[in-house]
Amino acid sequence: MNIRDIMRSAPVMPVIVIERLDDAVPLARALVAGGIRVLEVTLRTAVAMDAIKAIADSVPEAIVGVGTVTSPEQFAQVKAAGAKFAVTPGLTDELAEAAKLAGMPLLPGVMTPSEVIAALRHGFDAMKLFPAEQAGGLNMLKALGGPFPNVLFCPTGGVTLDSAPKLLALPNVGCVGGSWLVPKDKVAGGDWAGITQLAAEAAALRP
Ligand code: 3PG
Repeated sequence: MNIRDIMRSAPVMPVIVIERLDDAVPLARALVAGGIRVLEVTLRTAVAMDAIKAIADSVPEAIVGVGTVTSPEQFAQVKAAGAKFAVTPGLTDELAEAAKLAGMPLLPGVMTPSEVIAALRHGFDAMKLFPAEQAGGLNMLKALGGPFPNVLFCPTGGVTLDSAPKLLALPNVGCVGGSWLVPKDKVAGGDWAGITQLAAEAAALRP
């Protein structure tokens, strides 16, 4: 699956932070039950790598990827754990090369036109606009569509259920990213039904 196909698999890519390994599989199942199959598990906690492996092994309906990749060595590690794609908050030459070497579909983070040009030079035409709201949100995406009509974006950072529909209506937005589907209190309390409900609302953003 290439990164554009992954972006089209669901309107919202949840940005997931797993604190307890035992939460990984029920959380993934709850999101999938609501219609959200593409999951970005961020490398922000000690159990993240094991969480990716657990989801890849036990939730075959999920398309599990890894987020917050910031060093080149991580690509081979997450690929071995079962990640199907990677997301980075920004892009360096080293990250681009390592993703290619690992054969890992990558959604690189960009925030400026110069960064879009650099990502295009590395062969990426789908990018995460991060942090999206802080970068200008809807108006920034409209403006980037002028010089870069063929770049597909996944705005992430400050996106909400309320702001997502307008973003998704733009021709250069393939999906949006956000953490609102996985509120900390619901995960900590094991409120999987509540998370399925949030996922279902998000999945319905694109009929
Ligand atoms: C992140 O990397 O944490 C994402 O940008 C999520 O941002 P959000 O919490 O504003 O959705």
